[in-house]
Amino acid sequence: MLKTIVDIGNGIKLKNPIMTASGTFGYGDEFAELYDLAELGGIVTKAITPELRIGNPLPRIAETEYGMLNSIGLANLGLEDFVEKKISFIEKFNTVVIVNVAGKELKDYIAVAEKLNEIDCIDGIEVNISCPNVKEGGVAFGTDPKVAAEVTREVRKVYKKHMMLKLSPNVTDITQVAKACEGEGADSLSLINTLFGMAIDTKTFKPKVKSIVAGYSGPGIKPVALQAVYKCSQAVKIPLIGMGGITSAEDVIEFLLAGATAVQVGTANFTNPLAGLNIVNDLEIILKTRKISDINSLIGGMIV
Ligand SMILES: Cc1cc2nc3c(=O)[nH]c(=O)nc-3n(C[C@H](O)[C@H](O)[C@H](O)COP(=O)(O)O)c2cc1C
Repeated sequence: MLKTIVDIGNGIKLKNPIMTASGTFGYGDEFAELYDLAELGGIVTKAITPELRIGNPLPRIAETEYGMLNSIGLANLGLEDFVEKKISFIEKFNTVVIVNVAGKELKDYIAVAEKLNEIDCIDGIEVNISCPNVKEGGVAFGTDPKVAAEVTREVRKVYKKHMMLKLSPNVTDITQVAKACEGEGADSLSLINTLFGMAIDTKTFKPKVKSIVAGYSGPGIKPVALQAVYKCSQAVKIPLIGMGGITSAEDVIEFLLAGATAVQVGTANFTNPLAGLNIVNDLEIILKTRKISDINSLIGGMIV
């Protein structure tokens, strides 16, 4: 009997380690028309802020050789509309749902977390202290361990279910931020958010993304993400949710071997909306073929 269940802490067991990453899967509703989302270990929604945000000016995405640039700027429908319009769908959804939480100021995170704590069908939150595409807040919360600790501590006071902190790779030493979040009660850490990046159109001389500097994601960032997961796995004890450039089941295995307990699939959803489902199915085939009966045996299993 193949065991694919993984435990990411504070009451959340995923039926398999594959989740979809924030900002690449909406609120799940559009993808639910394409496949049964219950096949996934879980989904993470687009960031929710207290107020509606229209986001940054266009163009705000561009393709690059090995991934993409985005500068969406946390466009979202705001807390009230999210609760009013999306919860009825999420309630019917038979897998783990994590809501990504963001804000300009600490009080924004607290307001969203406090409200979400009351909603039964939401299993946890992913506190986004790592968005590179907003002028205020965003990545600033996740680059200073002291500030990261403060956000974790204050959100922990109002949020009792699973609290995941999403880390930025745009720091000198990611393990310092990881330790700060663990020390203040984070249940798990997800990593990595996008790297800073840019691209220029050589015919028009214009930046390909209006904000000039944007967030870089996709296969090109996988080695950066893997080393971040590996380093954090050496520094903290709480579960790690790895992401960055995952497009295949082999990539998932690589992240687990580096120390992740689960993963998120992001940019791959844009090239193939069925990416999450395909990875779940392929992973099962690989495990059976290689006679790996329990997926947990892979976690941190790199042999050095
Ligand atoms: C278009 C787009 C929007 C994103 N929006 C969010 C967001 O709202 N909150 C967040 O924490 N991360 C967001 N991310 C980052 C992803 O969740 C993920 O951390 C990153 O893209 C790395 O994974 P990937 O290479 O598999 O895409 C976004 C990424 C993309 C490409």
